[in-house]
Amino acid sequence: MKTLTVLGSTGSIGTNTLDVVRHSRHLYQVYALVAGHNVEVLAAQIVEFRPKIAAVATSEGLARLSNRLVEAGLPRAEWPELLCGSAARVQAATASEVDTVISAIVGVAGLEATYEAVCLGKRVGLANKEVLVSGGKLVMDAVREHQAELLPVDSEHNGAHQCLRAGNRQQVSKLILTASGGPFRNTPKEQLALVTPRQALKHPTWRMGNRITIDCATLMNKGFEVIEACWLFGFAPSEVDVVIHPQSTVHAMIEYSDGSVLAQVSATDMRMPIQYALTYPDRQPAPVPKINWAEARQWEFLPPDFEKFPLLKLAYQCQEAGGSAACTLNAADEIAVEAFLEGRIGFLSIYEIVSETLTRMPVRTPRTIEDILEIDRESRTLARDSLRLYAAV
Ligand SMILES: NC(=O)c1ccc[n+]([C@@H]2O[C@H](COP(=O)([O-])OP(=O)(O)OC[C@H]3O[C@@H](n4cnc5c(N)ncnc54)[C@H](OP(=O)(O)O)[C@@H]3O)[C@@H](O)[C@H]2O)c1
Repeated sequence: MKTLTVLGSTGSIGTNTLDVVRHSRHLYQVYALVAGHNVEVLAAQIVEFRPKIAAVATSEGLARLSNRLVEAGLPRAEWPELLCGSAARVQAATASEVDTVISAIVGVAGLEATYEAVCLGKRVGLANKEVLVSGGKLVMDAVREHQAELLPVDSEHNGAHQCLRAGNRQQVSKLILTASGGPFRNTPKEQLALVTPRQALKHPTWRMGNRITIDCATLMNKGFEVIEACWLFGFAPSEVDVVIHPQSTVHAMIEYSDGSVLAQVSATDMRMPIQYALTYPDRQPAPVPKINWAEARQWEFLPPDFEKFPLLKLAYQCQEAGGSAACTLNAADEIAVEAFLEGRIGFLSIYEIVSETLTRMPVRTPRTIEDILEIDRESRTLARDSLRLYAAV
């Protein structure tokens, strides 16, 4: 039986993780649930999964969570230990009872707890791509030093992980990551200036949190995935290709040196990679529909348009540059996406703000998690500064 901490339990990945648990209760027990502000969902999860620890982002959230548990009628003797803040996230991820951590907080708020779990050699199912985008070198050094198991939950990397098991890593020539192309795949470039947050939040194939959905619309998300793949599997950026595959059924492909290509194919459902990360190297029946091969289907594969989606190219350049460039890329993008969602800037200004922040922020070599968090803070300040210019336009 695996004992789990779910970081980001109230989000899209978190709730899918708990659904996997719900379908195989004999395989898992939930030790800790960690959320941000959504105490309604967290309280319901506490009642259902009975964790020993539950944590939220702030003390104000903690008070609201207590009220919710009272309203839910859960006797106080059955409440978990209630905690808040970044120390609570670390405590939940590093508890000795826990063997597996699902890292599914959005943004750098999940970095420290994920890193500390890695440093204790735990299995980490990694959905939070910002962990490797911001702190790739530090985290991967810790994975090697502490022999942690870092299993990708991002569907593309999970697909690559599966394809890599079929052959010798030394004989791999390329990783091909698929991308749905997002809601604006067929929108002419000239019209992108006018697209609204509502249109951008309509992802054609996946239902996810707001930030990643906007990142899919700009292809920034695919850029982050290129960076994540480089760290996870030891690829150079030039060895990672992106191909647009609107059906999102082939998740990744690995090309071996003889030109043979292996693809991982499964339903468009995150419970598949989540369960893989939990049960690896075993496989279990998953609560996911299987592909019906009797149904006629067509798959398309198209090259990405780097001109129309320049953030993808920027991600390659940041990974080539090394140091803190990708950390700044992520921080600036988060600020710009937030501003776009609030209607303060247009869609195309996301790129402008990110690229201007990268130009203004010197590349440094972070040596600790605190260095990364400091670079993240400074990058955000610069991005907010640039935002003022574009928000005024
Ligand atoms: N969704 C997908 O299919 C998918 C696929 C691949 C990778 N990912 C990656 O997985 C991560 C999560 O994505 P998502 O789609 O699940 O996002 P989401 O639905 O927005 O959920 C984010 C989670 O993070 C929590 N959170 C935010 N700030 C926090 C803080 N300061 N302290 C503690 N918890 C905090 C949220 O809590 P509250 O809601 O309670 O505030 C929520 O539980 C992202 O890095 C994303 O890129 C997602």
